[in-house]
Amino acid sequence: MRAALYEMTGPASEVFQVREVDKPEPGPGQVRVEVEFSGINPTDVKTRAGRGLMSIDGFQIPHHDGSGVIDAVGAGVDVNRIGERVWVMLAADGNRYGTAAQYCVVNSKLARHLPDSVSLELGATLGVPAVTAAYCLFSDGPIAGESVLISGGAGAVGRAAVQLAKWAGARVFTTVSSESKAQVATEAGADVVVNYTNPDAIDQLKDQGISRIVEVDLAGNLELDVAISQQGMKIVSYAADGGDPVLPRRALMIAGITIEFMLLYNVEANKLWKAVELLELALAEGALTLPPITVLPLDEIVAAHVQIEAASASRVLLTP
Ligand SMILES: NC(=O)c1ccc[n+]([C@@H]2O[C@H](COP(=O)([O-])OP(=O)(O)OC[C@H]3O[C@@H](n4cnc5c(N)ncnc54)[C@H](OP(=O)(O)O)[C@@H]3O)[C@@H](O)[C@H]2O)c1
Repeated sequence: MRAALYEMTGPASEVFQVREVDKPEPGPGQVRVEVEFSGINPTDVKTRAGRGLMSIDGFQIPHHDGSGVIDAVGAGVDVNRIGERVWVMLAADGNRYGTAAQYCVVNSKLARHLPDSVSLELGATLGVPAVTAAYCLFSDGPIAGESVLISGGAGAVGRAAVQLAKWAGARVFTTVSSESKAQVATEAGADVVVNYTNPDAIDQLKDQGISRIVEVDLAGNLELDVAISQQGMKIVSYAADGGDPVLPRRALMIAGITIEFMLLYNVEANKLWKAVELLELALAEGALTLPPITVLPLDEIVAAHVQIEAASASRVLLTP
């Protein structure tokens, strides 16, 4: 099969090869997916660059997210899954057969049923961002009737969080830095969109009863988060780009703020699968729509990674 892979970490232009490798066979409990779209996230780019924790098992075919059709199953997996349309999550986690190839093999549980009403393109954008968003929103229980703030509502995680929070019955506030991103967040369904670079951003968000924040930049936004907080508010911080935050302990204590730092790779399994279950309910009910995407052939994987590194406003999908 044709695959994009690397044998050592480093810059995309130096380490990627696109070449033939043996088609993998699904082991016990695994399925093989004929990949239609491979979705790229910042975590794939960081891992390829050498910022991941995983060692390479000979070679690494990258990318956790993808979509396609199951074409073979391993021992212990229902043969009726052959022919099933699926979206794939966490494919490259501890596994060298990620989605940037004609086929990937994953644990059967990571190849999720894709309803007929949902496109394969949308399926390939779900994994890392939408599961992260669902965890950040739902890990402490229902949010119906609550007011939530999603920082960066036009980002991959942020936009999915806006759509999931609306679906779950929350009032959704979000922040962006430009008109074009405001449009993306508004189209995703946010009730209130605030440009966080405006000097009155705090005034626009305070006294709104915000009880939960899905936070992409804790260091950059902590002052705003504390200023708009209500007693007992929770911040779920999911990103670690840029500098580390300086915690204003006394202000946090007085506001009774809890901060959770989450990483998709090590969250509690029961909370992870609950998040996936809710995400799939939202998906089946048509609550999630396709974000802006750029589709490139597998051969252009270097350009695709460069686009993600440049913090592209559109998701990038590869077609193997
Ligand atoms: N913990 C985990 O398991 C996990 C899971 C998924 C992603 N992540 C991490 O989360 C980060 C975002 O991922 P992504 O795929 O959503 O990236 P993305 O699509 O590039 O989105 C990032 C968004 O953050 C916004 N942003 C940056 N600084 C901001 C600030 N101070 N306030 C409000 N918004 C701000 C950006 O908008 P502006 O340009 O308008 O500021 C952009 O829309 C990455 O570092 C990624 O590695 C972690």
